[in-house]
Amino acid sequence: MNAGVKVFAPASVANVAVGYDILGFALEKPGDEVIVRFKEEPGLVITSITGGQLPYELEKNTAGFAAKQFLNKIGKNNVGIEMEIRKKMPFGSGLGSSAASAVAGVFAVNELLKRPMTKRELLEFAVAGEQIADGAWHADNVAPSLLGGIVLIRDNKTLDVHRLPTPRGLYATVVYPEIEILTSASRAVLSDQVPLSKCIEQSGNLAGFIIGLMHSDFDLISRSLNDVIIEPQRATLIPNFYEVKNAAIEAGALGCSISGAGPSIFALSNNSLKAQAAGEAMQAIFAKAKIESKIFVSKINQEGAIKF
Ligand code: HSE
Repeated sequence: MNAGVKVFAPASVANVAVGYDILGFALEKPGDEVIVRFKEEPGLVITSITGGQLPYELEKNTAGFAAKQFLNKIGKNNVGIEMEIRKKMPFGSGLGSSAASAVAGVFAVNELLKRPMTKRELLEFAVAGEQIADGAWHADNVAPSLLGGIVLIRDNKTLDVHRLPTPRGLYATVVYPEIEILTSASRAVLSDQVPLSKCIEQSGNLAGFIIGLMHSDFDLISRSLNDVIIEPQRATLIPNFYEVKNAAIEAGALGCSISGAGPSIFALSNNSLKAQAAGEAMQAIFAKAKIESKIFVSKINQEGAIKF
């Protein structure tokens, strides 16, 4: 009998201000854990879920669905496997919670079966798993959670994904105000019309951000971290958003915007002290508004999903 495999998949920040649906990075914590073991009876089942209310049906569970799609693809859906899911982060937080579960589910099963696929090849199954959560096909949380680092998705349809360099000293701060925003609701507020002038501005910022990463040019990163398309449309969903953002910048952060679909807010800084100071300044604004919040400060996680 197999002792089983335990894996961790990290939270992630999607969009990173200037790359809606096409840019994301992984955090060191929090993250979800999945344990898988062989069992006698054929088929995959979820036997335990802790840390949140989630469906046990494979078709409705991001981890279960990702793993099931993978097993179908490799013709192993008759292998008996039981899965335990340990949610270690909130849903609807903007931290890529459903993506981390999807990644952990498929990554764990691949490890249990002695890696029939590379990590990179697992991406499509994890994206399919996450799609259950918000109905949309985008890899900006899943790709960094699986692969680690800062990831650009040139094209979501073909999953043409590319790791970008992480400058030494770059730190992320994420402040999670304890209110829930469903990704589907946060996507629904967005207009599908973008004025050409905004498109030009955002393209410049995206390119500038990438060049800034490549050259460790923190001033350029700072000038570029300016979302002129999505943030103005979503800011009203998050109480005190602009005050929190200003507090982060005043505390020395390079830039600050909404993490994924919100309500979490992220900042990037060029050292850990500024990252911590930014987090505390952001949290103080929420505290003044009587909103509980949690701070996560970390380097950019370069490993992504790991077995431990
Ligand atoms: N790019 C996505 C969004 C991330 O902002 O809606 C959350 O799933």
